[in-house]
Amino acid sequence: MADGSGRKKGPVRFLSGVQPSGRLHLGNYFGALRQHIALQDEGEAFYFIANYHAMTTVQERDALEGQTLDVALDYLALGLDPAKAVFFRQSDVPEVAELAWVLSAVTAKGLLDRATSYKDKVQRGIAASVGLYYYPMLMAADILIYRSHIVPVGEDQIQHIEMTRDMAQSFNNTYGVVFPLPKPRLDAGAKVPGIDGQKMSKSYNNAIEIFQEGKPLRKRVMSIVTDSTPLEEPKHPEGCNVFSLYKLFSTEAEQEELAEKYRAGGFGYGDAKIMLLEKINETFGPYREERRRLEGDPGYVESVLAEGGARARAEAQATIKSVREAAGLGKMPVPAGSPVSARQG
Ligand code: ADP
Ligand code: TRP
Repeated sequence: MADGSGRKKGPVRFLSGVQPSGRLHLGNYFGALRQHIALQDEGEAFYFIANYHAMTTVQERDALEGQTLDVALDYLALGLDPAKAVFFRQSDVPEVAELAWVLSAVTAKGLLDRATSYKDKVQRGIAASVGLYYYPMLMAADILIYRSHIVPVGEDQIQHIEMTRDMAQSFNNTYGVVFPLPKPRLDAGAKVPGIDGQKMSKSYNNAIEIFQEGKPLRKRVMSIVTDSTPLEEPKHPEGCNVFSLYKLFSTEAEQEELAEKYRAGGFGYGDAKIMLLEKINETFGPYREERRRLEGDPGYVESVLAEGGARARAEAQATIKSVREAAGLGKMPVPAGSPVSARQG
């Protein structure tokens, strides 16, 4: 793909990340993971577990490590193929932190001031750390360091990608073109509601987890908030949380069938919830076994991440080399203890 940057030719490159800030849920699946997995056959795919980003909320080492492994298991069980996609831990490529700094020098502070996710998160009680404020900077570096073209995400991330384009443009204008300008890609499930009707999120306590099952899953589905229309009366499918979730799993004909039942009356929200529960079990049931199998093989999962990290890092280092050259930062330093001749090479 010709894009005016240093990486002129080659297939389209997809990149995305998911934070290990809790168990992945239906919003993550329909907004992000489903398209990530589908796109691994459409071009070069780079997907990572955003553990640096998660440090803004997860500050306990065992939790961060464990949740990182959980996200890896979820992806692999759902069909991410490490032979097709480069799958890695964000922190295995420390060069992104360097690029974030370089970008920060050419980015107006007003741009970050306008980030709505920072304001939302602070309003919800997350500590207003410098890291939380700087978060979009690091995200831009994630995208640009792999010179990505397309970023498949949910709706809440669109603003961050627009900011990334602004930052890439500032860098290119200042130092010469190094970065292509990335575009977001949305799936049909770009904004999945939680059990309370707000955006489903790991941190709103309103999520239905992808890998929940049995009684806890049933309890969760049964607790989806609905209005108090009595069973016998007609109901409106539009705006009903159960119906919105059911739509994600069903064909148009199935949706129409359920909508008819709503409108006819004599059909309760409890009945609709059971239909949704069946869909969830049908869709994710087959992946549960695979996840359990992978859970018993942590060595394999670690080797996938290590290999992905090495491939991603090689790409990132090539970009950093161009960035350093363009900005007058000198060559990448060689590791301490290396022979001096290597420094001159
Ligand atoms: P969360 O808000 O639960 O912490 P993340 O911020 O880690 O989720 O999001 C990971 C990916 O999932 C992003 O691409 C994001 O846009 C997508 N996503 C998160 N919640 C939803 C949702 N409710 N509907 C659609 N996509 C979502
Ligand atoms: N900010 C994203 C989220 O909360 C995660 C993320 C970090 C990301 N870096 C990224 C997504 C780069 C896409 C591309 O969901």
